[in-house]
Amino acid sequence: MPDTLTITDNRTGKQYEIPVKDGAIRAMDLRQIRTSPDDFGLMTYDPAFMNTASCRSRVTFIDGDKGILRYRGYPIEQLAEQSDYLETAYLILFGELPTEVEYQAWKRDITLHTMLHENIKKFMEGFNYDAHPMGIFLSTVGALSTFYPDAKDIGDEVSRRMQAVRLIAKVPTIAAYAFRHLMGRPYVYPDNDLSFSGNFLNMLFKMAEAKYEPSPVLARALDVLFILHADHEQNCSANAMRAIGSSHVDPYSALAGAAAALYGPLHGGANEAVLKMLHEIGHVANVPTFIEKVKHGEDRLMGFGHRVYKSYDPRARIIKKAADDVFAVTGRNPLLDIALELERIALEDEYFVSRKLYPNVDFYSGLIYQALGFPMEMFPVLFAIPRTSGWVAQWMEMLTDPEQKIARPRQIYVGYDIRTFVPRAKRG
Ligand code: CMC
Repeated sequence: MPDTLTITDNRTGKQYEIPVKDGAIRAMDLRQIRTSPDDFGLMTYDPAFMNTASCRSRVTFIDGDKGILRYRGYPIEQLAEQSDYLETAYLILFGELPTEVEYQAWKRDITLHTMLHENIKKFMEGFNYDAHPMGIFLSTVGALSTFYPDAKDIGDEVSRRMQAVRLIAKVPTIAAYAFRHLMGRPYVYPDNDLSFSGNFLNMLFKMAEAKYEPSPVLARALDVLFILHADHEQNCSANAMRAIGSSHVDPYSALAGAAAALYGPLHGGANEAVLKMLHEIGHVANVPTFIEKVKHGEDRLMGFGHRVYKSYDPRARIIKKAADDVFAVTGRNPLLDIALELERIALEDEYFVSRKLYPNVDFYSGLIYQALGFPMEMFPVLFAIPRTSGWVAQWMEMLTDPEQKIARPRQIYVGYDIRTFVPRAKRG
């Protein structure tokens, strides 16, 4: 049997053989289906890309029914257990795990590029005292393009790698400066003796001490969170990165757009919503009443459910373990008891079971961030730091894919047909 789909056009009686490859038909193959010679050809209509693959990708694999997440073929569980964020970022970007020599060179490259130009610090100081750190983050990332005009050379592989290094190295510094700005504290320069996440903690929390010594447990927990958030295939912000990058703009401008997409409450803001929900519930005793409200459609159990995962989000399982490690150092977040009780009841309740609603990555991440001392405004920024490697990998893949062109969806025009202009004086 040929791997084709036969379509019969009932209007004309004509039949079309459309090839099926990798479980998909090419939308352009439908263009041959016309009712008249001047007919444009059949289109597909797919708001929100619910059933449209926009690219072929080798970066991240997700099986939502089975709860599988893999970067370049490696299960997320193995990476979270045995890798570190910088190694994972290398894997995501370049497709293979680095050898020891490659890893050391990569780490050195990143460490050498953590500093920001002093003028960046100056314009960050211009933000209002209560500016949202994600607003500061995304505008500063965009502004980096003015410091690195060589980044426009997107066709040059060496230049692309240079920008990848700069971006991955500098986003923690930008994020930390945004945090210190919010706190009204002086900015802290990177300490190149420390690990990637250890240095980030240094830039966030160093006070008067001569040398900041990060807790190895907290640095590791943060690193695991970074691994878990590094990529998630074609989500809203990855799609933004690819779409903006398809105009051949520099990667800093494209990444500012991706970060803006992440800023939205439907994407990177759900963990904040979880914390607000837990605060509102207030006590374990109030959990059953809250669950009833959710079941009656009066509320939503934030941190539960996912467009793709119809089983336990594999990242949530790992995060739960990281939460235990963090709370052993910082003390238990009192909201954890409410979260555990919510999860216990929901996983037994027919409403959630029948709809395949399980905890997602955001159910526990906010509790960890709060225990680490972050205000809620920082949550999307903490997401953006590791996702930078995913965005850059998606961007590089898009640029080197010969099938890709400038992103330009079609529309179905449903507005007026032609109308004749009426001068203002004659309008009723
Ligand atoms: N609480 C209660 N009911 C829910 C929830 C929830 N969190 N999520 C879905 N449902 C119900 C929904 O009401 C619907 O019920 P019915 O069939 O009776 O109408 C059914 O489950 C299917 O839901 P849906 O809204 O069609 O599912 P979706 O795939 O469009 O939405 C979602 C996915 C993540 C937006 C949604 O589950 C949700 O709003 N969850 C809470 C917010 C949240 O935690 N977001 C973080 C997602 S993970 C972040 C990331 O990976 O980027």
